[in-house]
Amino acid sequence: MPFTNNTLAGRMEHAYYPIRELSPLAEEIKKTGAEIYNASIGDPVPYLGPAKYVIKAYAKALKDGKVFYSRSPGDFEFLDEISKRYKRLYTLDIDSSKIFVTQGLSEAVTFLAESLMCKGRGAVLFNPYYPVYAPAVKLFDGTVVLSELDEEKGWAPSKDDLEEKIKKAKDAGVDLRFILIINPNNPTGSMCSRKDLQDVVEIAKNNDLLIISDEIYDEMILVKEKMTCIGELAKGVPHIIMNGLSKNWGGTGFRIGWVVIPEDDEGSRKLREGLNNLATMRLCANTPAQIAGVEALRNVKAHRRFLKYLIKNIRERAEFMQKRLNEIQGVSCQKAKGAFYLFPKIDLSKTKFKDDKEFCTELLRKEHVWVTRGSGFGRDSHLRTTVLPPIEILGKVAQGIENLMRC
Ligand SMILES: Cc1ncc(COP(=O)(O)O)c(C=O)c1O
Repeated sequence: MPFTNNTLAGRMEHAYYPIRELSPLAEEIKKTGAEIYNASIGDPVPYLGPAKYVIKAYAKALKDGKVFYSRSPGDFEFLDEISKRYKRLYTLDIDSSKIFVTQGLSEAVTFLAESLMCKGRGAVLFNPYYPVYAPAVKLFDGTVVLSELDEEKGWAPSKDDLEEKIKKAKDAGVDLRFILIINPNNPTGSMCSRKDLQDVVEIAKNNDLLIISDEIYDEMILVKEKMTCIGELAKGVPHIIMNGLSKNWGGTGFRIGWVVIPEDDEGSRKLREGLNNLATMRLCANTPAQIAGVEALRNVKAHRRFLKYLIKNIRERAEFMQKRLNEIQGVSCQKAKGAFYLFPKIDLSKTKFKDDKEFCTELLRKEHVWVTRGSGFGRDSHLRTTVLPPIEILGKVAQGIENLMRC
């Protein structure tokens, strides 16, 4: 068969990331010299900067020539600091041999989907979801089962819906393997209550499912409520905690994440073995970034100072934007409790747009406002906007949305 025919494997139809689908149009507009009001990409660094104390450690690692291959599962010192962090924040005792460093949390997602999914198996995601998860499951031939988050209840999970969807999938012969939680949540900005998490743990236990918790925003809490790490509730139930340097430490470009597999049941042990083997195949994660990661986690005082600055700004921007969006006719928006996103519902019935994809494309083309369509996260008639830009730019984003809602 010539190379040019059927070049890509069939599974490649699932390789898709909607958050970046308007990048080519944004680049085209930028080339004309026009300004883009970008509330699309969830990267805190361009608007709020990196943590300088971490950059200093990274620069030193480079100056010292620390650009060699490091251990595949992660640098010992860095793993140790990650372990201490779980003790410090959540009083969890996690041996560093149960932690794996990955190239961003994103690589952890691929590793887990690759390790756990195959034809006949499936995974439960709460809808809406961060849009890497569904394609990752499908790329490895798994079936995605969606349980709906309740918008009117601040995007809380519904116990009844979760139980019903699991039962339906099992009755249809799907061999379900895990439930994924994103807490605090992208795209909704919600945070799970302890009670909601307890319900999920209970359901996972009753159905023999692994729980995977993406906690990449676990220190970006905008309200007075306390964040619950899944490890605090799921003792004795197989679970995985994921995190990384991208958000809490303002280090998206370091490409450093981690996976914690704390339990000692046979499945967890096998999974650790599998991840270790996958990690060796890609040799190692970024070495100087792990060295910087040691300082990022060890220098608690500098980290707290940085977080305080981040949260203060994000909270002000989120409050401004939520209020402004709710003033627009046909738009309603829940309050954000964590992370740096809002996920407003837009009533398209009185506009000329047939769906949120068309709306977002026109918003960028006409108003130069760049947000992401809700349907990319599994929910049509929604927009996902970051609250990272300064209030002045967020005002322009809201104004652009308002102008288009009148079309
Ligand atoms: C919920 C969630 N998980 C994972 C990621 C990606 O993390 P990383 O930069 O560590 O790959 C993001 C990025 O926006 C995210 O929102």
